Amino acid sequence: MPMQNRIDDCLSRRDGHLFIEECDTVDLVRTFGSPIFVVSEDQIRRNVRRFHRAFQEGWPDGEVKILPAAKASWSLAIQRILADEGCGADIYSTGELSAALQAGVNPQFISVNGVPKDDAHIQRSLQAGARITIDSVEELDAIQKAANDLGVTAMVRLRIKPTVSGFTDRTDFVAEGPVPTDLAALAYKGGLPVEDVIALGRRILGMGNVHLVGFHQHHGRHHASTRYWVEQMKAYAAAIGEVCRELGGFRPREIDIGGGFAIPRDPFNKATNYTEPAQFALLSGLSMGLEGFGTAARYTIMARIIDRLVTHPNTTLAPTIEEYGAACTRTLREELPRHGVDLHGVMLQVEPGRAMHGNTGIHLTTVRNLKRMTSPIRYNHVIVDTTEFWFTGGRYEHHLHDYVFANKADALPVGKADIIGRSCYGDRLYPFVPVPKVEVGDVLAMLDTGAYQEVSTSNFNAMPRPATVLVTGSRAAVIRRAETEEDVFRRDVIPEHLRVEQAPPPARAVRPTPRSP
Ligand SMILES: Cc1ncc(COP(=O)(O)O)c(C=O)c1O
Repeated sequence: MPMQNRIDDCLSRRDGHLFIEECDTVDLVRTFGSPIFVVSEDQIRRNVRRFHRAFQEGWPDGEVKILPAAKASWSLAIQRILADEGCGADIYSTGELSAALQAGVNPQFISVNGVPKDDAHIQRSLQAGARITIDSVEELDAIQKAANDLGVTAMVRLRIKPTVSGFTDRTDFVAEGPVPTDLAALAYKGGLPVEDVIALGRRILGMGNVHLVGFHQHHGRHHASTRYWVEQMKAYAAAIGEVCRELGGFRPREIDIGGGFAIPRDPFNKATNYTEPAQFALLSGLSMGLEGFGTAARYTIMARIIDRLVTHPNTTLAPTIEEYGAACTRTLREELPRHGVDLHGVMLQVEPGRAMHGNTGIHLTTVRNLKRMTSPIRYNHVIVDTTEFWFTGGRYEHHLHDYVFANKADALPVGKADIIGRSCYGDRLYPFVPVPKVEVGDVLAMLDTGAYQEVSTSNFNAMPRPATVLVTGSRAAVIRRAETEEDVFRRDVIPEHLRVEQAPPPARAVRPTPRSP
């Protein structure tokens, strides 16, 4: 099976079963049902500590704070673990703000990111004492007004969109075509051009109740290499230097570099991303060309081609957290002073989302049906009780997660199949992947589903969403219960004129009135 054992994480194979920490995943399905999301508490803690250590070692100038992206995994229990580890939070909405505050995250280390921010969101953020990361020209007036109304000083940072001109490799983000990273990053909505940052900075420096504390950037996971990070940091340092000079020698107290680091078993898969459409284009071209040879010959040739198509999850490990930490801090420490920025006492902030949560979670699903076609083409379907609609975060980015059959973790592949989900769509969770001898009842573990997946599940086909279980050593507890059908319809309202008249209750048998004696 493709699962890579070289990574020091929460997963292991023991006597043919997949374990997450000290829990047998097959037992987890027996106890909590199928399908389920499972998250490792210890892996979250280990990831936070590694991020902190890796960046702090390279940043002796000031404190390092880790602000994990709440969007990747905002359940209250998980936010609680992060708060307990001393993390801040990158939040995008009032809901994520509530999750972070309820978990006990120190508001000074909450970065209120994103556009647009509505007035209620700005007010709540200021009331809580969070940092607002300004990402549009329009929001400054709203911040100033809210600060006035509340009688507080707004602590803000400015989000810059540096031009990463030194990195023109193809971005992994865009499946539709070979777009260079620098252009893809410029096209993304986040961040402001340097001229706007300077203009906003000048205005803020003249305001009594809005205080500029630093800068922010985030480009996202365009490329897994540390080279990409070196170029981002060079561009960011140059932009910060220019803004500080234009603001008359402004000294930032906080520099936030955002997130976008790849997870070790990086699920971005160039094979599926880019060649699947080409494979099908080739097949359809060939199919048309073979029309003249008769149906039997056409299927014989098509079957041979389909037999040869196999998809493998990406097997190239991404750089380690330590390698990312060293690349970023080394470059910033070289470049910022070159651009006239004094680093003394500057807090460095990092906002990992996928790299914080990805390898903390797995999804367990059970094989329900098998379909085996031998004619006119050979095709195997393994049908499981989950759906791609519970992985939309990853599907959107064309992820192909590594996988292992949890009750057959040592079994070698004997063939290939499409692993298919339960919705009415094609639901090809895994197209043409190697599989061992599969039987109904086997448990499939989809690996590295801890970021962006559970939080983007939908109710397509009116399906109630699955539970999430937190594993702590050998203990396991539900942290988000499975939905019921009642939950699915909870928001529905039938207007008066569409209501169906309640059928009258069935007539009761008329009992004879007892006569008085
Ligand atoms: C502002 C900000 N910070 C951090 C992140 C986390 O990104 P990733 O999950 O790629 O690390 C995001 C994700 O979109 C973001 O928008």
